[in-house]
This record gives sequence, structure tokens and C-alpha cells, in this order.
Amino acid sequence: MKKFDGVLQSVEASCRERHIPMLGPEKAKFLRQIVRRVQPNIVVECGTAIGYSGLWIAYELQAIGTGKLITIEIDPERASEAQSNFTQAGVNHLIDLRIGDARNVLDKIGIAVDLLFLDNDFQNYFPCFQAIEPQLTNEATLVADNVGIGADKMKDYLDHTRSRYQTELHWFKIDLPWVNRDAMEIATYRKPSST
Ligand SMILES: C[S@@+](CC[C@H](N)C(=O)[O-])C[C@H]1O[C@@H](n2cnc3c(N)ncnc32)[C@H](O)[C@@H]1O
Repeated sequence: MKKFDGVLQSVEASCRERHIPMLGPEKAKFLRQIVRRVQPNIVVECGTAIGYSGLWIAYELQAIGTGKLITIEIDPERASEAQSNFTQAGVNHLIDLRIGDARNVLDKIGIAVDLLFLDNDFQNYFPCFQAIEPQLTNEATLVADNVGIGADKMKDYLDHTRSRYQTELHWFKIDLPWVNRDAMEIATYRKPSST
């Protein structure tokens, strides 16, 4: 665990120093609680960056003793850095990192998904949701980051989920060099009825 904590701290410091977007500890702790509550078999994350949130998710999957993370990153250099961070932290076996545009990768996942974490480019939250929807289990948990700062760009996603599912908006005071207040939205997905 010492090794894991050291990698997490160094990834966080590196994101702060290089202005690489990351969740930050306040929202990451909240995400971790969601993983604990859902006890997912499969978590899908859109937007890996260098693996900060992926490390938190993997930490909790390891703690609850179940589940895998599929995480998708469009930038190959960031993906390669994330892979190396996962290896150093000893959680590689829990993570399947895929490189590409999440909208295309999601089409090929072919496995039931219990928890979707959207943290990529805001305008693609809805296309990503649509691409993975056939694989979502009934009552899958959807988590969207940056709903405070990015609401306009993800309006199609928010309109869709708020009009159909139970949603909860959570605001956070955060301490990141580029933002100090933002929100995450949780939605409970319902499969459309076939009648
Ligand atoms: C906010 S960062 C992710 C932060 C990460 N979840 C964390 O907390 O450590 C967003 C990432 O999404 C990636 N990205 C943007 N558009 C994408 C897309 N269409 N598919 C996959 N990744 C994308 C960016 O390259 C960037 O690294």
C-alpha cells in the first residue's frame, strides 16, 4: 500500500505541476464511495489522462475485492504514462487501458457495464453515453464530472438524463490550480421498457 500511496501522490503532484486535468482528491474520494456502494463488475471511464482517477477506482476495486476498470484515453502519450503509473502502483491487473476516441472504443466493449464515469471532452458525454447504452445494466450508475464548469457543452447529456432518470448534483469546493468549484452528477440508468 505504501507503494500505491507514493504513486498516487506523485501522479497528483505531476498533474498539478504540468496542468494535466485530473479529478482532484475531493471528487476522487466521492467517486471512491460510489464504487464502494455500487460494487461494480465493470467500471468504464472515458478520459484516463495519466491515471489519477483510475488509481482511485482501482484502489477501491481492490479493497472491495471485485470488479475491473476499462479506461479509455485518446492521447497515446498520456495513455502510456497512465499505463506506467498503473504498473508502478501494482494495480495493472485490475485495469484494461484502451487508446482511442471513447465514442468508437465504447461500441466494441461487448460486456455489461455497471458504472460509467464520464470525464472526457464535455461535448462527447452524450455520444459516449449513447455508444455504451446497449451495454448498461438496468440501474447502472452514471457519473459525469465537470457538470459545474461544462454544463453548456454537455447540455444534450444532462437534458437526456435529467428528463429520464433519477439524478443528483453534487457541488465541491476544490483546490486545483485551474478551478476551485465544480460539480459531479450521478444518474441511475433505467433500461427503456420494451412495451
Ligand atoms: C479531465 S481529463 C481526465 C482526467 C482523469 N479522469 C483523472 O481524473 O485523472 C480528460 C481526458 O480525456 C481525454 N479525451 C478527450 N476527448 C476524448 C475522447 N473523445 N475519447 C477519449 N479520451 C478523450 C483527454 O485527452 C484528457 O486526457
